[in-house]
Amino acid sequence: MTLEQKIGQACLKGTSSRSKGLSDELKKEVRMGLVGAILNLTDPDLVLQIQKIAVEESPTHIPLLFGRDVIHGYKTIFPIPLGLAASWDMELVEKTSKIAANESYSRCINWTYAPMVDITRDARWGRIAESPGEDPLLASRLGTAYINGFQGNDPSVPGQILACAKHFAAYGAAEGGRDYNTVSMSESLLRNIYLKPFEAAAKSGAATFMSSFNDLNGIPASGNSFLLKKILREEWKYDGFVVSDWNSVTEMIAHGFASDEKDAAFKSASAGLDMEMTSLSYANHLKTLIAEKKISEKQLDEMVRNILRIKFRAGVFENPYFKDREKFSLLNADALQTARNAASKSCVLLKNENQILPLKSNQKIAVIGPLADAPREQLGTWIFDGNKQDSQTPLKALQNSFGNDNVFYASALSHSRSLSEEGFASAIEAAKKSDIILFFGGEEAILSGEAHSRANINLPGLQEKLIAELQKTGKPIVLIVMAGRPITLGAVLSKTHAVIMAWHPGTMAGPAISDILLGIVNPSGKLPVTWPKEVGQIPIYYNHPNTGRPADPQTFVAIQDIPVEAWQSSLGNNSHYLDVGYEPQFPFGFGLSYTTFSYENLKIEKTVLKNNNSEKLNVSAVITNTGNHTGTETVQLYVRDITGSIVRPVRELKDFVQIELKPKESKTVNFSILVSDLAFYNDKMELKTEPGNFKVWIASHAENGLEGDFKIE
Ligand code: IFM
Repeated sequence: MTLEQKIGQACLKGTSSRSKGLSDELKKEVRMGLVGAILNLTDPDLVLQIQKIAVEESPTHIPLLFGRDVIHGYKTIFPIPLGLAASWDMELVEKTSKIAANESYSRCINWTYAPMVDITRDARWGRIAESPGEDPLLASRLGTAYINGFQGNDPSVPGQILACAKHFAAYGAAEGGRDYNTVSMSESLLRNIYLKPFEAAAKSGAATFMSSFNDLNGIPASGNSFLLKKILREEWKYDGFVVSDWNSVTEMIAHGFASDEKDAAFKSASAGLDMEMTSLSYANHLKTLIAEKKISEKQLDEMVRNILRIKFRAGVFENPYFKDREKFSLLNADALQTARNAASKSCVLLKNENQILPLKSNQKIAVIGPLADAPREQLGTWIFDGNKQDSQTPLKALQNSFGNDNVFYASALSHSRSLSEEGFASAIEAAKKSDIILFFGGEEAILSGEAHSRANINLPGLQEKLIAELQKTGKPIVLIVMAGRPITLGAVLSKTHAVIMAWHPGTMAGPAISDILLGIVNPSGKLPVTWPKEVGQIPIYYNHPNTGRPADPQTFVAIQDIPVEAWQSSLGNNSHYLDVGYEPQFPFGFGLSYTTFSYENLKIEKTVLKNNNSEKLNVSAVITNTGNHTGTETVQLYVRDITGSIVRPVRELKDFVQIELKPKESKTVNFSILVSDLAFYNDKMELKTEPGNFKVWIASHAENGLEGDFKIE
């Protein structure tokens, strides 16, 4: 290969998703072998046409990759990733991404920019919608499930596509939750939390990685050799290729890290970035940089080798034209049923006073709110190829289930941010005719996603006011939240009898939510993130260090509950907020069911363990369904390392399992983890399990559980 052709492999060219044809320029470049991959070319005829040029007319005959953001479905849209995370069901997640792979392959896409495995502790960040949440273990398992679904055992099998673990790294820790913002963190925090799911993705064979937009401790990720060389290649022995994010190479100029485009190319190539997305610094400058001996041809060969290795693995040389693609249909019955299951399994029941849910099918219901019949909005962020025409909305599904005569509909607000009270009267009228109010509130898709951060995460617009007016009718209110993030509910919570977090559930939102409301599906979702009471509590996350003065639940009283005369008295010198305390609204791992579960009989097989690689902590508990509905419970294993050479989190999730129990049925749940699973990076960046005392919990969320003690010698 000539130098130009090698550089061509390192170039990912963007096309407009709305373009009607192929530009002459693109055809010329591909014909000359100057392009490695194309982004957002969505017309299969055009893909096949340009691939033919690459394979038959270019001097290298190397096929192109065709990339697209297939994030939570292609045509069949599944819940947003944060919603799917709430299912804690890895088989289901894998199935959704396999369907997404099949559908997109059928439209000539062989590379997706998913999964995003960025941990985040900040609900203001718009991309929390696309994240796996706050926990490294859950995020690692989710990432692996997505990768297995996209790639299968062999990404060259027709119907499978290449995955991309993004955004490497720490993008979810953007300061203040503002997208693209700077990230500063200690290396031990980076390694113990933020890198974990990326390491799992590398081990699971993610074909590609994407470097992130942010700087990490002053070095933009696309020019960060610590991330791209030391961690990814040297430590993890990763053999896929790394693509930049959109223009993130040349954005290093705005970061103030590269002086110009040429310097940006130099810094990214030197740091180990293999392929540049959309910006042209490699195309324009790598040749000169090699001539000037600033970059060696050997370095370029290494980049190209990484890319070609993945092209071989993807089978594009044998199968450049997407053979058998007609076998994979869009929106087929299995896909829609999976989308329905995924959407109902993602629903988290946050409150259910007096067992107001499930509804009875003979009830008259008022369906109110801006998201009850919003086919585009229920799909959520990042759905380039999903169509609102395919959406089944809650209103339609409830009309089917209850009959038109028993459903009184008034959206009342034309959209979530509407400031008009015009529709209030019709909503109140609808409520008065009904036995119960179903309020579909939250935020539209546009309020989360890339560059869509919010500083205030309440229900937008007049939704709170409308709920307060509806409460005056005396009818019970069920709030169904559709949103890309946890929403601070404030006073709304006490005005409602039940709350369901449905996230943005996707194409089948309607039937899925109707299944939950009617008890056809018993809710089993659990929060993958801590849900704050107030935005000012952020960052709030369950696996935090204890501090020297932890909040004291025995003595804490919020300032508003202390009479003014007593304000002189001490409010306790503990780590809390005077006004909202220290507790979240709902903890990580929390989610109710229509049944109840008891946890009993914690057993620890051996309470003194040796510190070696084969030693195991075996713990069990008996879980019983104490209610009247069959239900699924996600049983969680948490551990606390009491004293460490660096401070340790108050709890860490170490395993979880889902069990289904019939009423009165019991099951013993056994957990077995290696002592080496308790290792962490110390301040010398050594990964070690330290001897000492530990606590263990088998729990239904991060703040409860059966507690035991063990020791590592
Ligand atoms: O994959 C995305 C990334 O997550 C954000 N910037 C653009 C990329 C390609 O569309």
